[in-house]
Amino acid sequence: MGKELTIRSGKTLAEVAPLLEGEEEIFLVYDENVSWAAAEVIGAVPGVRGSIAIDASEQGKTMDTVLLLCRSLLEAGADRKALVLAVGGGITTDLAGFAASIYKRGVRYANIPTTLLGQVDAAIGGKTGVNLDAYKNMLGVIVQPQFTFLCADTLKTLPERDFRSGVAELLKTFLLSDAVRYGRAVRSLSRGRRGLQGLILGAARVKARIVGADPYEHGERRKLNLGHTFAHAIEHEAQRRGDDITHGEAVSMGILLAARLSEALGLAENGLAERLKADFGACGLPVDCPYPAGDLAEAMARDKKAEGDAVAFVLPVRPGTVAIRPLDPHEILESL
Ligand SMILES: NC(=O)c1ccc[n+]([C@@H]2O[C@H](COP(=O)([O-])OP(=O)(O)OC[C@H]3O[C@@H](n4cnc5c(N)ncnc54)[C@H](O)[C@@H]3O)[C@@H](O)[C@H]2O)c1
Ligand SMILES: [Zn+2]
Repeated sequence: MGKELTIRSGKTLAEVAPLLEGEEEIFLVYDENVSWAAAEVIGAVPGVRGSIAIDASEQGKTMDTVLLLCRSLLEAGADRKALVLAVGGGITTDLAGFAASIYKRGVRYANIPTTLLGQVDAAIGGKTGVNLDAYKNMLGVIVQPQFTFLCADTLKTLPERDFRSGVAELLKTFLLSDAVRYGRAVRSLSRGRRGLQGLILGAARVKARIVGADPYEHGERRKLNLGHTFAHAIEHEAQRRGDDITHGEAVSMGILLAARLSEALGLAENGLAERLKADFGACGLPVDCPYPAGDLAEAMARDKKAEGDAVAFVLPVRPGTVAIRPLDPHEILESL
């Protein structure tokens, strides 16, 4: 068993202060798009010694930015007692967590995610890292944050499309967990954002429990890749064609393709794909993949060569249950 992951929440950002009591060397790394949130944290937390703003873009999620962060820490006099506090979306928490984990052989870090995707996914589980050339998240480490602080109030400035991207990961997490909470999340999200804080905390705890049982992804943690084999292929295709599809949109389409495949293989309960399509659609997510299955299989096969293994598909059986099957991407084509 791994260690318990620390998830805390508050109605306002100021409520993070007690978690940082006694810390005298806090270095904030924040996304410049949420400088207002950084200012609120600085106002409430006495131990902030310095702050570094970053431009959160996938192109800037590189080793160069990590080096820049490390240099800034060094110049600010950060020593081994330092705590790096990330305020921003997944790009910011990935960059800050990685920089902290290698600076002076590792100082502590904590996350205040400001995107829904960060709150239910990226800021939990300790995976940190950066892109290497065209390869996403190629360099990184798994080091757990001191805590992840969840505050739905930070989402008030998040653009709707980024919000929905996080909804896909939130639904994915509850789909892995159990039928009751999955159903409740769908009903709630199809009506709007009320009750969001509870849903975020619930999903974050589910992810924390899965990761806590398998921090280095030897077994249980692989479940979290539900929909992602298809999603990564969809994202590759979108990039190749110059289309604009967010990660969450690709995950939504990917989960539905996985459900169809699962039904075709006789694993999923009858009608699961149709039900999920209605649920995800009701929550404002795209459900039909615009690309032919053949193109997706090609993209997966290229990925497979890169990894040298069979592709492990996570297939939904019913809410709360998945099966993992190694399959040849070309063989799945007939099922879709
Ligand atoms: N480490 C992990 O386990 C893990 C898991 C999933 C995703 N990720 C990574 O996370 C990244 C995606 O995360 P993301 O979707 O949070 O993206 P992000 O960090 O790019 O944020 C999305 C956009 O929203 C802006 N933003 C953030 N918070 C805001 C707010 N409250 N108000 C207004 N604008 C705001 C950002 O500046 C950015 O333009 C990817 O790089 C992905 O690889 C990591
Ligand atoms: Zn994802």
